[in-house]
Amino acid sequence: MRLPKRIKMVEVGPRDGLQNEAAIVPTEVKIALIDRLSATGLAAIEGASFVSPKWMPQMADSTAVMKGIKRRSGVSYPVLVPNLQGLEAAVAAGADEVAVFGAASESFSRKNINCSIAASFDRFGEVCDAARKQGLRVRGYVSCALGCPYEGNVEPQAVAWVAGRMMELGCYEISLGDTIGVGTPGKAQAMIDAVAQKVQLERLAVHFHDTYGQALANILAVMERGIAVIDSSVAGLGGCPFAAGASGNVASEDLLYMLKGLSIETGVDLQALVEAGRYISSFLERPSGSRVANALAGQPDGSKLVTK
Ligand code: HMG
Ligand code: MG
Repeated sequence: MRLPKRIKMVEVGPRDGLQNEAAIVPTEVKIALIDRLSATGLAAIEGASFVSPKWMPQMADSTAVMKGIKRRSGVSYPVLVPNLQGLEAAVAAGADEVAVFGAASESFSRKNINCSIAASFDRFGEVCDAARKQGLRVRGYVSCALGCPYEGNVEPQAVAWVAGRMMELGCYEISLGDTIGVGTPGKAQAMIDAVAQKVQLERLAVHFHDTYGQALANILAVMERGIAVIDSSVAGLGGCPFAAGASGNVASEDLLYMLKGLSIETGVDLQALVEAGRYISSFLERPSGSRVANALAGQPDGSKLVTK
């Protein structure tokens, strides 16, 4: 098995995780979570999204969140923006990187961002042009890369086409999202193989929700293909209100535990990550979605179990 020597973990918990919480999480809790994550060694923490507060009330305080966090040097704090209005608000809040989000499924595009895939490219093009002028990097998401809550199966070629187009528009990296966590390893590899025909492997990331418990297996499968940037969410938080039935992202703690076991470098400290997960789980008053965090909690000295 040939695997990358180093993986970049992109933490999406403060955005993907908290956006799915029904009860509004106070701004100071979001800030405290991001500040804790900043101390773990993570190089990228997606902190917020500048979307319509009518569509996503949980993210209505994104300006206060981004202004309130302690930015750590060497860490980037990308935020989601669906359009120019979002970009302007993100820039005013001091964002250093933004992400646009499209889909490989026409129905999901309409449900999530209220426009067709073709119309979304026009918006993304405007955002990329304006962001470039301000020296901001733009990440691109392609949702429904392994299945759609409305259309079911999604062809790898459809994912490849959308990813290729977003790259042409100016994204520096494309994160391929299994929004509803239905993929399995063979399908994930086939999807990566198709997308790699349009976008260089080094510019691809994966973003796997764990609804069907396949995320770690899928991640291992795509690492074998050379994928070295992986999104995850502390305590396994996450989901999208426009993708019914989707549960959290792969838990960052579980991903890191697997990577440590494979002797793959990340620069992230497991114990500090577990602490950040404990903080948000205790605020939300429910057990962590991370199997590793829960297992370590049952040990008198959990750190002894971490061998590498
Ligand atoms: P729309 O209603 O078509 O927008 O929504 P509009 O341009 O017609 O504007 C309507 C109203 O929204 C106006 O306000 C605008 O000012 C306002 P009004 O005049 O009615 O008071 N508006 C905004 N307000 C704040 N910030 C903005 C903004 N834009 C317009 N940026 C829109 C279109 C895209 C805005 C809407 O559909 C939206 O906000 N969607 C976001 C949905 C969302 O956040 N989804 C979750 C994130 S994606 C995800 O989780 C998947 C991912 O994790 C990957 C994966 O798992 O696959 C990334
Ligand atoms: Mg997601």
